[in-house]
Amino acid sequence: MTSALTTDVRDGIAVVTLDVPNAPVNTFARSVRDEFTALIERFDRDESIRAAVIRSGKPDVWVAGADIEEFLGIETSSQAEALSRDGHALLDRLEKLKTPVVAAINGACLGGGLEAALACAYRIGTETPKTVFGLPEVQLGLIPGGGGTQRLPRLVGLEAGLDMILTGRNIRARKALQMGLIHELVHPAILDDVAIERAKALADGVLKRGMVGGPHGARHMLLDENRVGRALVFRQARERILARTRGHYPAPLAALDVVATGYAHGTERGYREEARLFGELAVSEVSRQLVFLFFATSALKKDPGVPEPAPPPKPIQKLGILGAGFMGAGIASIAAQQGTLIRLKDADPGRVGKGLAAAREVMRDRLTKKQITRQQLDDYMTLIGGTTDYSGFRNVDLVIEAVFEDLGVKQAVLQETEAVTRADAIFASNTSTIPIAQLASVSSRPPQVIGMHFFSPVPKMPLLEVIVTPQTSREVSATVVGYGKALGKTVIVVNDAPGFFANRILAPYINEAGILLDEGVAVDTIDRALVEFGFPVGPITLIDEVGLDIAGKSGAIMLEAFGNRMAPSQSLVRVVAAGRSGRKGKKGFYRYDETGKKRGVDPSVYELLPTGQRRTEIPSDEIQRRCVLAMVNEAVRCLQDGILRSSRDGDVGAVFGIGFPPFRGGPFRYVDSLGTERVVRALEGLNSDRAPRFAPAQLLIEMARAGRRFYPERGHPFPG
Ligand code: NAI
Repeated sequence: MTSALTTDVRDGIAVVTLDVPNAPVNTFARSVRDEFTALIERFDRDESIRAAVIRSGKPDVWVAGADIEEFLGIETSSQAEALSRDGHALLDRLEKLKTPVVAAINGACLGGGLEAALACAYRIGTETPKTVFGLPEVQLGLIPGGGGTQRLPRLVGLEAGLDMILTGRNIRARKALQMGLIHELVHPAILDDVAIERAKALADGVLKRGMVGGPHGARHMLLDENRVGRALVFRQARERILARTRGHYPAPLAALDVVATGYAHGTERGYREEARLFGELAVSEVSRQLVFLFFATSALKKDPGVPEPAPPPKPIQKLGILGAGFMGAGIASIAAQQGTLIRLKDADPGRVGKGLAAAREVMRDRLTKKQITRQQLDDYMTLIGGTTDYSGFRNVDLVIEAVFEDLGVKQAVLQETEAVTRADAIFASNTSTIPIAQLASVSSRPPQVIGMHFFSPVPKMPLLEVIVTPQTSREVSATVVGYGKALGKTVIVVNDAPGFFANRILAPYINEAGILLDEGVAVDTIDRALVEFGFPVGPITLIDEVGLDIAGKSGAIMLEAFGNRMAPSQSLVRVVAAGRSGRKGKKGFYRYDETGKKRGVDPSVYELLPTGQRRTEIPSDEIQRRCVLAMVNEAVRCLQDGILRSSRDGDVGAVFGIGFPPFRGGPFRYVDSLGTERVVRALEGLNSDRAPRFAPAQLLIEMARAGRRFYPERGHPFPG
């Protein structure tokens, strides 16, 4: 087996290159850790080595962190705790080495990678956007297990350290320098030379080892030494975590406790506590679900969207967008940032200008966050040309339509487009409810018609649902999936049917919330129950946001497609009929002030509902059971009907498209965690002559009978 580390000793300086063979990134897999142990032993033994540099052989990554596959083999908390303790021992030896080690960091330095860098005597980062630092463990429901909770806050200060540990966010190299996380920032071209020089200087004693780097060092340290000041920082951090996670995610709180332990009782106790809690979290249900989502999204990145052997996706260099409204402008903004040349067409000249301004606004937001430069903003904007006719469409590779949600309008623009574009141009619709086959029925080239269902707001929402009809060609599917990925989206491919996947499972969930309203349950009681379950907002807030008119229309379409099972609630029908449109009209189930800020439930809305001002109390768990099982049951139907290719796509689609609680893994993972049999029993308990909508999906019944699950109980979620 080839090794990951190669060491080249010159003039007493060992230059170690880490390049894990046959892997896209460097991780600290077991074999790599073993090689590191051997390396440290060699440094200890070999007096001729005066100092060392650790660099990466990968172009974009220094070390990405632990090998997450390895976590799947962990069965007990003590196994995970031991893993963390081994890491501590290794990094403790690295830190205490007589031979000074310089971390020469080009590319991502994350998780265990950053923890290793923190144990080095000197850290140099390169000035490029790909060099980022972070401890993303909380995003997997874990805490840093290689001493990060102790070393990082002591280096950069409690507040900055906690921010990185508790959010998992990445920071850029320049910021890392300002914080004192790295000692030096250099151009990538001179990284190795500078690192070797610093290694020599450290060996010669010209350069002294020291932890504190940043300009704020002295001040933050003073604050951190003060017990009262620290207590305040910890209290505020705890409040922020609880507000953000609503207690659903144990990892950030555990990380906070571990950091606090280290400050109160010293780092030895801190490390012990870190290992113990890392162990506990590694086998927790929340972490298992988040790790599953990590694997599911990684698998989707590699999925061409059509069965193998997949045709290669064609490049999309020129894009036409029809409709410069909310969605069209959002799509233009992200496409321009990928370097696509765009024609943005609207029927209304005023809307073209507004669409361009909206696209610029998205980029300005990124500029403010320092994610792009002024120059980049200008460059991207020059890629978008506004128009009210089809000029410039002759050479487009792809057209995405985002005009009004109206079959006639959409069919008309499809035919107009086909008349002016190249014969091989693809036509994609961003419709949220119209079956793609209905659009394709008026097409002269149905194999080139497809759905690209983006979610709102486009720049923020990670999911893209690609909808294929039986006629869509494999080349077209692969090209659109490839382009969706290039736009930074997680792409699932679904078959054509009303509501596709995401909106289809949303429909019974929203309806159930509406039926609860019909029965007299208060608006905020329903919303609160589902937020407690883990949704980012409750269902009534959601339809107020989306627009009650739109929710009403899509409800009618679902009723027509699926019959009474999807009958909309009386409450929604009546509120829509009364002309309330939700936030955009500043009047819905909730009240809004002039700025559009939500101001509590509108008491007058109850006058419109079947039970008037009379309220009924229903326990929170019953509200959750009804709404969530309605959604989950529909998700299983989508799989059974072949709308979904896999439960994986359904879980990712629900989490990233409609905010299904990530810590529950998605609807299919949720069923597995409850057990299919239990879910069938619960649905049968709700099912009655009055509520036949709860009849369990056939697939669920069969799986319950056979004792089957959607995913293996242990090990890799996608074996083979
Ligand atoms: P919008 O009303 O903001 O924009 C539609 C734009 O299309 C308007 O600017 C209108 O002037 C223009 N338009 C109408 N007829 C046209 C024609 N024949 N040629 C060129 N332009 C024309 O609507 P929005 O929200 O952007 O929605 C657009 C599409 O995206 C709809 O199909 C909608 O269902 C879908 N969608 C909307 C989502 C949302 O949350 N708003 C989410 C996902 C999909």
